[in-house]
Amino acid sequence: MVHASALLTGTDSTGVVLADLRDPEVVLAQPKLRDLIDFTQPVALLLVAILHFITDAEGPAAIVATLRDALPGGSYLALSHGTQDFHPPGDADRPRPPTRTPPPGSCSAPVRTCARSSTASTS
Ligand SMILES: C[S@@+](CC[C@H](N)C(=O)[O-])C[C@H]1O[C@@H](n2cnc3c(N)ncnc32)[C@H](O)[C@@H]1O
Repeated sequence: MVHASALLTGTDSTGVVLADLRDPEVVLAQPKLRDLIDFTQPVALLLVAILHFITDAEGPAAIVATLRDALPGGSYLALSHGTQDFHPPGDADRPRPPTRTPPPGSCSAPVRTCARSSTASTS
């Protein structure tokens, strides 16, 4: 966060907001986001390599829907998600070494992969 802010100092066309994706309404309500992005014009939303940190119980589809519904007409939403679709059969069941519990939102948090078909069905 500090590094990102330092990189973006001195420009008024970029910004950094610290928020939890699991609270999309809070993300959308950030004053800095509203100051920077003109929601009367089409917006591009990139959810790249982040949704696999959200558990099924945390409702990733509802999170995406909330963000998508906030976008004006003509906007784009792109997302990528880890998958085991290309792993050898049975690989998902292979025992893994125990991992420590990282803080929520950490890049070292457990990743939940999903099949391409389930990602594509988000509406
Ligand atoms: C694999 S990185 C991808 C970052 C960026 N989208 C990219 O493509 O370079 C995943 C990022 O998601 C963030 N993250 C994980 N869970 C989050 C959450 N609940 N809310 C906000 N950010 C989260 C992590 O801190 C990390 O910066």
